[in-house]
Amino acid sequence: MLSSIKAKIIIFYLMVLFLSLSVLGIFLYLGLGKIVHDSIDSSLLSRAKALAMLINEDNNETEFKFSDDVMWEYNSPKSKSFFQIRRPDGTAMEKSASLGDSELPFQTGKNQTSFETILLNNKPVRLINFHLHNLVIQCAEDIKDQTNLLKNYRIVLSLSILSIMIISASGGFIIARKALTPVKEISETIDRISESNLSERVTGKNIPSELKGLAASFNRTFDSLEKAFNRQKQFTADASHELRTPLSVILSQSEIALRKERAVEEYRNALAAVTEAAKMMSQIVQKLLTLARLSSDKVELNIEDINICKTIHEAVKLLNPLAEQKGISINISGNEQPVIRGDRAVLLELFTNLIDNAVKYNTPHGKIDISIRKEMDFIVTEIKDTGIGIHEGDLDKVFDRFYRVDKSRSRESGGIGLGLSICEEIVKLHGGRIEIKSKVGEGTNVTVYLKGIKDVT
Ligand SMILES: Nc1ncnc2c1ncn2[C@@H]1O[C@H](COP(=O)(O)OP(=O)(O)OP(=O)(O)O)[C@@H](O)[C@H]1O
Ligand SMILES: [Mg+2]
Repeated sequence: MLSSIKAKIIIFYLMVLFLSLSVLGIFLYLGLGKIVHDSIDSSLLSRAKALAMLINEDNNETEFKFSDDVMWEYNSPKSKSFFQIRRPDGTAMEKSASLGDSELPFQTGKNQTSFETILLNNKPVRLINFHLHNLVIQCAEDIKDQTNLLKNYRIVLSLSILSIMIISASGGFIIARKALTPVKEISETIDRISESNLSERVTGKNIPSELKGLAASFNRTFDSLEKAFNRQKQFTADASHELRTPLSVILSQSEIALRKERAVEEYRNALAAVTEAAKMMSQIVQKLLTLARLSSDKVELNIEDINICKTIHEAVKLLNPLAEQKGISINISGNEQPVIRGDRAVLLELFTNLIDNAVKYNTPHGKIDISIRKEMDFIVTEIKDTGIGIHEGDLDKVFDRFYRVDKSRSRESGGIGLGLSICEEIVKLHGGRIEIKSKVGEGTNVTVYLKGIKDVT
């Protein structure tokens, strides 16, 4: 219960309210009590003084000249006013008829006027002991009515505090519930969002400004989740599509060859077509595996010091036969010997893919210029070809998986459309970026920035 924000708000709010109302109530009660007691005390003092004025003391003779005018309020047994006159040693001298057989309590040894509240015949009574020469005038008054008034006031005050607390608790509960309703709505929307319903978003005019940031964060997360999910779906669809073509070649060639007895030459042609299609499938599967490995969270790399120049030379060596076939010349420039921490095989794959593109999409007898330089924290490699170039509208798509500008041309040269996606993953793993610029008919310029992987020790 206490883990709920609602309960915490209400309990805190009620505690503060209870403390404030109690302090206020106690002050009001004490204030009223003081006013009541002060007025009783001052009336008792006046009465004692009035009696004192009517007492004559002469040569130890004490004469009480109380007229009926003064005595009327003390005479009745039902009266609520009492008096008793004593010697300082407590000897009773005179008392009001209203006291009947009772006596007002008296303590010897005190010689100053004092007030006290006592019980007389089980009734609360306020008493003054007024000292006058050799006499003590005790005046008392039944304060049952005033005590009742204070008691009632106490009850009304406690009931008011209780009602205010109940009303406030209910109000607080309603306000807290209303304030937290949008949170519930947001969580219900999030619960509804599932694999089949990834496009739903947290919306609503009722979302308070404090929660708009939270809703926006959720929406952003779902946006990127939806994009990633759609990319994944598209990728699976594309991969199946790419594999279907060579598969249908294999199936159809085999079926046709097996339909009837054929000449050796026909079998040879069929097997050649099947081998070609299987090679294509094997290439696709291999590249898909590479891509899956590189983009996995647990990619295992063999990190060592890599001389980028050396790796580029290795890649060029691998592609030289193909370049020579097309009469393309490859030139490498840059005097520095830049070294980064990275995975040799993976970096070789990066440059092989890029130089392979520069050869594949080059014109016969074209040129490839590779330059290596250092720029701030990065080793920058630029691969420039004089090939067919890429249309501006296609430039931002060439890193998409299975994207080929000219499918038929790319397929002719064995292109699957995964090379640049693989390059992008490799560059990301090595703390860098890859940029591509191109002009149709003039050539393409790919720049790779590599920072190197920090060793985790
Ligand atoms: N240097 C370049 N000159 C012109 N077009 C290029 C160049 N590099 C890439 N492209 C275009 O970008 C597309 C994607 O390139 P990518 O390397 O990803 O795939 P691919 O070369 O077709 O196949 P592969 O997976 O075998 O590399 C290519 O199909 C091609 O159209
Ligand atoms: Mg390629």
